[in-house]
Amino acid sequence: MTDEMVLEARDVHLRLRDRTKKGRVRRGEVEILAGVSLELSRGETLGLLGESGCGKSTFARVLCGLSPVHSGAVRFHSRVAGKGEVSPPTLGIQMVFQDPYGSLNPRRRVRDILAEGWQINRSLLAKSDWEARLRQLVTDVGLRIEHLERFPAALSGGERQRVAIARALSVNPEVVVCDEAVSALDASVKSQVISLLEEVQSRTGVAYLFISHDTTAVRQLADRVAVMYLGKIVETGPAETVFASPGHPYTHTLLAAVPKLRPWRGGSRRPGMVKGEIPSFASPPSGCRFRTRCFMAQDVCAALEPPETALSDGHIAACHFAGSAGLEQVAVSIGTTRRAR
Ligand SMILES: Nc1ncnc2c1ncn2[C@@H]1O[C@H](COP(=O)(O)OP(=O)(O)O)[C@@H](O)[C@H]1O
Ligand code: SF4
Ligand SMILES: [Mg+2]
Repeated sequence: MTDEMVLEARDVHLRLRDRTKKGRVRRGEVEILAGVSLELSRGETLGLLGESGCGKSTFARVLCGLSPVHSGAVRFHSRVAGKGEVSPPTLGIQMVFQDPYGSLNPRRRVRDILAEGWQINRSLLAKSDWEARLRQLVTDVGLRIEHLERFPAALSGGERQRVAIARALSVNPEVVVCDEAVSALDASVKSQVISLLEEVQSRTGVAYLFISHDTTAVRQLADRVAVMYLGKIVETGPAETVFASPGHPYTHTLLAAVPKLRPWRGGSRRPGMVKGEIPSFASPPSGCRFRTRCFMAQDVCAALEPPETALSDGHIAACHFAGSAGLEQVAVSIGTTRRAR
């Protein structure tokens, strides 16, 4: 772990009791996280991208100490959670969820919601300083002082998400895990909240793990990107590089599914790219987990788990054909890469 690194996950595995979609417990366990490694440095934004149901929120819960690590380790500074342990609770990592209405207590006024952290941790802030800090917090997230007296029901979706961000910031965290934090917002509010997150980061140096299935939002905010598929990271790299020249067929699939702004120029969504449903965690495909949906799959993909291939500085993809001319050709033909590498 370098000095700049604040949060690190190394080969994290998590198994859960198998449940049906209706929540009924079945025999045996399913592995939801199958060896996830990521690191987050001070002041950076790491985008965690992947379609719904691939394990992003489960990973977020492990990082925040809400689920145990079955093997591997999570490290936040000197606090380490290893096999069978839950990360020790820390104010240094805070979460912002998708549904601010569900995560804000409807019976408490905004001022009480924002003061919760100081009430529980009395040493954080002297009571005489609460009022000034409350006023500063709401102003920092673009709300007005009068919002302090409101209940969540009297706020719009965007305002509620601003309160959720202010609550996370109230305890001066080093890391904020934003789990689909802008996914429920409409386009203009979404871009306001993204700008707010950027502005807060440049002022406080907070690091974000920005989790989303929304490629456009990740593209707007992230410095680096990690792409998750069925409980594994399949590609990581600088955001600019990954979006300009993805190295994994799954990332191509995600990017090809984003509708372009000018479909009349041949840039519309390519419906043939995404095949079928994400497989069950209870019986993941052999070899490469993406092989049942991959447009490049060959026999070797069923037989062998693909190794991580370094494509350029910090850009890694776990695919037998990462960086190959064949993948490059497909990428150019579907328009998910700008130029031949
Ligand atoms: N106990 C369980 N048994 C079987 N599958 C589970 C269990 N708990 C979670 N899952 C599955 O794990 C997957 C990952 O969920 P989640 O982390 O919420 O994904 P994401 O946040 O990427 O949408 C989901 O498909 C969910 O159905
Ligand atoms: S290893 Fe094979 S199946 Fe997996 S992503 Fe690469 S080409 Fe597709
Ligand atoms: Mg989720």
